[in-house]
Amino acid sequence: MKPARHPRNARTRPAQPAGLAARVIAAEALDAVLRQRAPLDETLERLAARHEEAGPRDRALARAIATVALRRLGTIRLGLKRFLERGLPRNAGLLEAILIGGAAQLLFLDVPDHAAVDLAVRQARADKRAFPYAKLVNAVLRRVAGARAEILAAGEAPRIDTPDWLHRRWVAAYGEAIADAIAAANRHEAAVDISVKDDLPGWAETLGAHILPTGSLRLPQRVPVPDLPGYAEGAWWVQDAAAALPARFIAPKAGERVIDLCAAPGGKTAQLAAAGASVLAVDRSPERLERLAGNMRRLSLAVEALAADALALDVPPADAVLLDAPCSATGTLRRHPDVAWTKREDDIASLAQLQAQLIDKAASLVRPGGRLVYCTCSLEPEEGERQVAAFLDRHRDFTRVPVAAEEIGGLAQFITADGDLRTLPHALPGAEPRLSGLDGFYAARLVRASS
Ligand SMILES: C[S@@+](CC[C@H](N)C(=O)[O-])C[C@H]1O[C@@H](n2cnc3c(N)ncnc32)[C@H](O)[C@@H]1O
Repeated sequence: MKPARHPRNARTRPAQPAGLAARVIAAEALDAVLRQRAPLDETLERLAARHEEAGPRDRALARAIATVALRRLGTIRLGLKRFLERGLPRNAGLLEAILIGGAAQLLFLDVPDHAAVDLAVRQARADKRAFPYAKLVNAVLRRVAGARAEILAAGEAPRIDTPDWLHRRWVAAYGEAIADAIAAANRHEAAVDISVKDDLPGWAETLGAHILPTGSLRLPQRVPVPDLPGYAEGAWWVQDAAAALPARFIAPKAGERVIDLCAAPGGKTAQLAAAGASVLAVDRSPERLERLAGNMRRLSLAVEALAADALALDVPPADAVLLDAPCSATGTLRRHPDVAWTKREDDIASLAQLQAQLIDKAASLVRPGGRLVYCTCSLEPEEGERQVAAFLDRHRDFTRVPVAAEEIGGLAQFITADGDLRTLPHALPGAEPRLSGLDGFYAARLVRASS
């Protein structure tokens, strides 16, 4: 009789403990976001494809761990620091990500302490560089669990979870109280908002959703969106309430030609097409444009989609151009908490430079008498107010047409002294934090002189 082989030598690997795959994906994602500045959503998709052993529950848990860890990173790092007297060892592989993911579960998720600690220790043991620190992981995370109340109290001030450079900028732009209110809003996951093609009251009733003053619907709880009535038949699409405002300022008449210069995944393209415009949707990324095309198919909206660099676009001028420019996205931290840690302050200046080139190009594509709407989901004035002020200095043939309160549901507080749209994430209070707020957006409407 042959002797039984040791499992380590056998071809079949021993079964993983339940929940380990979720923690492995979460730690690898945190490591990629924090060390390589990789975007969280794409990283999670890539890791889910690589970790075939992870089922849908593992993937959902991995996302929950990584998201809350990035949303509350300041508090978590402060908590870990208490018990890492000598700081983090260098070249320790996934060690920091394992500790952050473990602490996130202990402090913010409904996970039994022993599971969070045990699985973190196993992860450390499985990582060549973190292996020597497995005992440290055990000791530190146990102490975090024991000091939960004090750590949470120490992290009470919301600004702790905002990088200093970003908070400083918001204080300079909006004042201390608003900067703190934005930071507080960013601690909550954003609600799901919906734009409907038509019959707003009917869909509000069917979905049990609130009608916001701006005309978007807000779902009362998080549910798998594709399972909801109306999704498959293309009656509506997911779009933040603030993101739904800028395309309205184009107000296209049926049949007008509109170029959507940075269009994917197509929330604003859908609005323009649903309003009857003949839309050319341009985006540099073929993958993102493919998503746009899929969204338009589901919504039965006909648009022309073109994968191209907007800066090199050679098409006849249109009645209107929408430029939703690539930006730092600091207005979307409720939805994308990774952005706070993947962006650096010097990114703002290089993005502003790109936006200046794009808005000049956009202007050249507007026919005499036509409209140009410029917008970004950034809170930084260089990407909004100052960008448009500089544009108007360069282009004397363009003037601003102020936004009217009636165009945005009467919310005059979202209109700047110059007549532009400026929303901030803490505005639009709802019944509870989960149902409050909207993305931070800036938009200006400009018109070209007739001749
Ligand atoms: C803010 S997102 C657009 C969101 C979209 N308007 C919506 O409402 O769904 C910016 C887009 O600009 C695209 N982009 C960046 N640089 C570009 C360029 N030079 N030409 C065309 N598209 C560009 C990116 O691929 C990205 O999809």
